[in-house]
Amino acid sequence: MGVLSNFFSPKSVAIVGASNSPGKIGHAIVKNVMESGYTGKILPVNPKEQEIMGLQAFPGIKDISEEVEMAVISVPAARVLNVAKECGKAGVKNLVVITAGFKEVGKEGLDMEKQLLATCREYGMHMLGPNCLGMMDTHMQLNTSFAKVFPIKGNIAFFSQSGAMMVAILDWSRSVGLGFSKVVSLGNKADLSEIDFIEEAAEDPYTRVILCYIEDVSDGKRFLEVVGNATRKKPVIILKSGTSQAGAQAASSHTGALAGSDLAYETAFRQCGVIRAKNMTELFDLAAAFSKCSLPAGDKVAIITNSGGPGIIATDNVESNGLRMARFQKETLEVLRSGLPPESGIYNPVDVLGDAKTDRYSFALEKVCADPNTDVVMLLLCHAATTEPIETGRALIEMKETYPDKTFFASYMGGEGLKEGATLLAENGVPCYTFPEPAISSVNHMVKYRRYIDSPPDESGLDYQDVDKKAVKAIFYDVLKDNRLVLLGSEAAEVARAYGIPAAPVALATTPDEAVEEAEKIGYPVVLKVASPKILHKTDVGGVKVGLDSPEAVRKGFLEIMESVHRFMPQAVVYGVEVNKMMPRGTELIIGMTKDIQFGPMIACGLGGIYVNLLKDVAFRLARGLTRKEIESMLAETKSYSLLRGYRGSEPQDINAVVDAVGRVARLALDFPEITELDVNPVFVYPSGLSALDVKITISIS
Ligand code: COA
Repeated sequence: MGVLSNFFSPKSVAIVGASNSPGKIGHAIVKNVMESGYTGKILPVNPKEQEIMGLQAFPGIKDISEEVEMAVISVPAARVLNVAKECGKAGVKNLVVITAGFKEVGKEGLDMEKQLLATCREYGMHMLGPNCLGMMDTHMQLNTSFAKVFPIKGNIAFFSQSGAMMVAILDWSRSVGLGFSKVVSLGNKADLSEIDFIEEAAEDPYTRVILCYIEDVSDGKRFLEVVGNATRKKPVIILKSGTSQAGAQAASSHTGALAGSDLAYETAFRQCGVIRAKNMTELFDLAAAFSKCSLPAGDKVAIITNSGGPGIIATDNVESNGLRMARFQKETLEVLRSGLPPESGIYNPVDVLGDAKTDRYSFALEKVCADPNTDVVMLLLCHAATTEPIETGRALIEMKETYPDKTFFASYMGGEGLKEGATLLAENGVPCYTFPEPAISSVNHMVKYRRYIDSPPDESGLDYQDVDKKAVKAIFYDVLKDNRLVLLGSEAAEVARAYGIPAAPVALATTPDEAVEEAEKIGYPVVLKVASPKILHKTDVGGVKVGLDSPEAVRKGFLEIMESVHRFMPQAVVYGVEVNKMMPRGTELIIGMTKDIQFGPMIACGLGGIYVNLLKDVAFRLARGLTRKEIESMLAETKSYSLLRGYRGSEPQDINAVVDAVGRVARLALDFPEITELDVNPVFVYPSGLSALDVKITISIS
């Protein structure tokens, strides 16, 4: 039994709102539970009826003497709360609330939903919904939904945030022979969500592939933990629609502006090993592949085709997907040459020619499978007068049994005439597609997934013992006391230093003499910058002076900055001038942080300086769960990485120092959720070490 206890295998199911009137949802549910082959007790509840569809009916839950493990509620919204309370009092364990009219209709509905959830919590009940279609389990033989179709028994668990989509897919799935273990309509996800069901399905012996359609994730932190574990056990394939613009729009930092609305999901999915489907077609193409065949041992694909064109298309696809065409051994080539007609292509793709019957396909299959360089066999078949789609399909199935360490795919290119053969293949564990592209793309996802589960979990976390949390707390305290949310550059640099990020020396001066004093301490040459939280673009208002190498120059610079800023922005509160050490130039990077509503801090790193937004050479990762290895792979995604490694003979820069700084920024963001935005731009990276030149931090009152 999984984490959801007996949610999918209750000993008894009450249907509250059961009805004798055909056409009512309460009628359809009773009918579905009865027809699904459910062997537990079915207990209809209706205040007016003695009997429903031949079963004894009860006026209320409290009138049922035996234990009720699940109650399916299908009464109007205004009555749901009372029914739930009665269920709680009667000791019901699980609720499936079909009724609509909750959070999705506005404030009043949301309040009702909150009360409903509170009731579930009070009585320790799990709840699916409200506003859902119900759930199905083909192995427990239970259908508590009002869908018309019950799926074929299989190994795909499918969780959908859209009820309508679920119905459409169930209907279609029968026609293509796709089988399901569990199907759940998630509804409003007030209590149970895809996270709970993914966790359950990861342990379910009947489930091999986990499939989701979701519009959002309500608990990003838990999603990362639970789904990250689940993907190590089973493939989790998710189609996610809907994007939240709010976060990106609110952001004013460079990093925030770079992070698109969907980026956090993309990043989260990648970091926890989720396979993201681009669209519905791909969702089910992948489902077919993962549910039917074993993971490929490697990425070397052998193609056997009866037509040149599709063979070339498939070959192009193998390469564009980053897979490899198998290079056959000499012996394989010799035997193919001797056994196939002279016009045949014996190199991969093997072209058995348009007039090939099953014997020729069989011969080529046997030789290609026996070659140790073949990991995946892709059979392409175009419908010619002589083709034998069913017999050739049988030959492929036979080969699959003979070579269990190879992975088999087929593409039967055509329509009605190939249908029987294609179905035969699908029913016998060979995913068969109409065109080669989805087949090869599926192979690619499977190869990547195999690499993912074969690689040991990355434990190189961000555990820094030398960070000074107290110092950061004290700075934030002072900033808030000063009625500010934006830190001055000198304060932000202090924060960075407290977390071991080497910020260049910077000090605040309120008079020309103080500026000279600080410059003497820091050492010439220096840069002066106006210190004002309101002035974001300092250069535009004459607020920056660079290369000042004497006390006179500093004094003069101070006065000029003050005068210029006063002229351009007379209303801005100016705290003084910051004296920065003029650092030698290095490779310019940006390290930044922006926040996602669901998944928390997202860390960015890439090309820095003034062209950040123009060139957008930045990669992102979530701070949560980030590891050194991930930071390295994040850097490797940017073009700046080539610069760091030493481009065209230039000296390599200190990549380790960058990894360390990125990790420390992530640690800082996780330790202080009140930081809403953070940009370190530019960071000068040197052959040894780096220097954070300009640190910007915004906090919130929390
Ligand atoms: N306990 C038990 N039965 C009750 C009851 C209670 N407290 N209150 C009412 N009933 C009975 C009714 O008498 C009726 O039985 P009857 O046909 O014998 O008269 C039955 O429950 C249903 O109530 P009714 O008032 O007829 O409602 P309905 O069937 O028209 O609608 C819902 C109820 C839940 C289907 C409807 O409110 C709803 O939410 N529909 C949308 C569902 C949906 O789309 N969900 C999301 C899918 S993705």
